[in-house]
Amino acid sequence: MTSKAKKDQVLIFDTTLRDGEQCPGASMGLQEKLQVARALARLNVDIIEAGFPIASPGDFEAVHEIARTIKGPRIAALARCVDKDIETAGRAVAPAGKRGRIHVFLATSAIHRQFKLRKAKEEIVKAAVAGVKKAKEFVDDVQFSPEDASRTELDFLAEVVEAVIDAGATTVNIPDTVGYTVPEEFGKCIRYLKENVPNIDKAVIHVHCHNDLGLAVANSLEAVRNGARGVECTINGIGERAGNCSLEEIVMALRTRHDSFGGAYTNIKTTEIFRTSRLVSQLTGLHVQRNKAIVGANAFAHESGIHQDGMLKERTTYEIMNPEDVGVTSGTELVLGKHSGRHAFREHMNTLGFKLTGDALEQAFNAFIDLADKKKHVYDDDLVAIMQQNISQQPPGAYVLNYLHVSTGNVTVPTATVRLASGEEILEDAACGDGPVDAALKTIDRITKIHGTLEDFTLQAITTGKDAQGEVTVTVRFEDLGLMSGKASSTDIVEAGAKAYLNCINRYLAQKAQA
Ligand code: KIV
Ligand code: ZN
Repeated sequence: MTSKAKKDQVLIFDTTLRDGEQCPGASMGLQEKLQVARALARLNVDIIEAGFPIASPGDFEAVHEIARTIKGPRIAALARCVDKDIETAGRAVAPAGKRGRIHVFLATSAIHRQFKLRKAKEEIVKAAVAGVKKAKEFVDDVQFSPEDASRTELDFLAEVVEAVIDAGATTVNIPDTVGYTVPEEFGKCIRYLKENVPNIDKAVIHVHCHNDLGLAVANSLEAVRNGARGVECTINGIGERAGNCSLEEIVMALRTRHDSFGGAYTNIKTTEIFRTSRLVSQLTGLHVQRNKAIVGANAFAHESGIHQDGMLKERTTYEIMNPEDVGVTSGTELVLGKHSGRHAFREHMNTLGFKLTGDALEQAFNAFIDLADKKKHVYDDDLVAIMQQNISQQPPGAYVLNYLHVSTGNVTVPTATVRLASGEEILEDAACGDGPVDAALKTIDRITKIHGTLEDFTLQAITTGKDAQGEVTVTVRFEDLGLMSGKASSTDIVEAGAKAYLNCINRYLAQKAQA
């Protein structure tokens, strides 16, 4: 690409911290959200949707802290067209100053009007306009979303869009809330708005597609082809139900096939994609499938002999993107050894995006030395895993694994002895189980007296070699709060399982403390 015209820029609106976090089990604490927000800023997204401040005091605090500390992107807060929501969102984004945005939404489709809102069309237009005007009292930058737009009558959708732009909306976002639309239809919808809303040039059109039919990226691309200039998306495509348009896929599709989209481009620093994906996966506990486009472990792996032969002769025979362009270089790179000092460690963590000082540095460095003692090679992925365990929210009374001993074998009853620290208190117990992991988790249940139901347990090697760290992801259902995911890694998979399970319990406790 040579010269890039401003009119061809597609803004990337990242909603990992809002719609992404709505994914069952993906909830994050304040420190985790800040870490993601910093990674998004490094990725150079244009707008970070930091949360839905009215939803809980924790959401408010996260949006406020992100607005206060993150420099670069605009910071958006979601609100219904309800005064209290909008006032709360206004206070939450205030520290971002001119970069603060309020995103108000109201459903417009017949099905939502009739069954959810019980409002006539005129009332919807009135409430949408009032919502935008109210938001304007707090910020200049106001975004409006007609929820379920893709199932809204086109002429009514155009009427709403015109009215909210007249009221001061500077961005109009067209959501495919239930992932129902298909590319041709959605493209036509955007074109229709471009051609039938007289004041459309006064606002930027965004699109927000869900992935229920696996079409979120395809629908967003077709919208861009038809004039949308903002795409709302999440890292790894996480989000409500089947998720949202995946940031890495839309960005790399526009970059790799800019010829097909009239030169449309984004300003994303693509070399940051891979590590941001890993970070979000670590912090949310949501595993990235191996064959996931762009960021899956197999995305650049060539298995068949014919492909390998072609690759050796000329990379582009089977590779349409350069792995380095999305930052796939360091996963298997040796970075630090057991003799690396604190300074080298701190500097290296800095390049990975973790700014460590004081106690946090000390804690992470000790964890690194422990790991380097057990494991010959320490890779970037190992370090990210260490950080996940260090920065995860630790509510008062959080449990930390102090000691684990399991006895197992084909003729022994698997038994675990576990010691947990909770604040100043040290708690110990033992139990038998169907296997060493089951025994360890049962013992944790006995100590914590919290009984979650294990719904999923997956184990993956995150680095290479026989001494690779095993990464365990668990999903646990708690009767009162639903699903929580947790992740942990260790060279010992029983220890990783126990830590991942504790990670869920600590998240559960943190949410209970916030509720
Ligand atoms: O999917 C949706 O409609 C939303 C809106 C709040 C934009 O997430
Ligand atoms: Zn959504």
